[in-house]
Amino acid sequence: MHRKILVLAGAAFVAACAVFSATSLKAADGDKATEEFMKKYHKAPKGTDPICKKAVGGMASAEELAGLLAGYQAMCGTKPPKGDVGPWQEKCKALIAAVKGLQAKDATAGEAYKKAVNCKACHSEHKPD
Ligand code: HEC
Repeated sequence: MHRKILVLAGAAFVAACAVFSATSLKAADGDKATEEFMKKYHKAPKGTDPICKKAVGGMASAEELAGLLAGYQAMCGTKPPKGDVGPWQEKCKALIAAVKGLQAKDATAGEAYKKAVNCKACHSEHKPD
């Protein structure tokens, strides 16, 4: 009886480890995802506004806001390529909250998003050179 419980516990432990290593691998892929997301949403061809700028001005479409939200949520779930996880998650959470505000048409959300999407503040801490 006791022996059976031990075997079961052992199996559960092995399964947990497998899940853990699978998520670590995913986090490594996520770094690349951040770069792709930045290029798509924070940068724009010359003469056009990047999506993040449109969002600050309340001009982003529902699809664009949904894309921003998904991107920040994905970033929040990954380790930053540089710097500490704590401040990184704080920045990502501020971005998520601001985009949700924009989706809810909260009048103060544009200002909150503008503050949260501070390129330099985040890059200097978290973007590898
Ligand atoms: C919350 C953090 C954060 C904010 C805010 C942020 N970035 Fe980034 N950005 C990153 C990180 C981290 C990388 C590096 C990704 C990598 O190398 O894996 C990056 C990479 C980039 C890249 C692509 C790679 C490169 O070296 O040029 C561009 C372009 C970019 N960001 C533009 C911007 C712009 C423009 C803004 C402001 C409107 C901005 N980002 C705001 C975190 C942020």
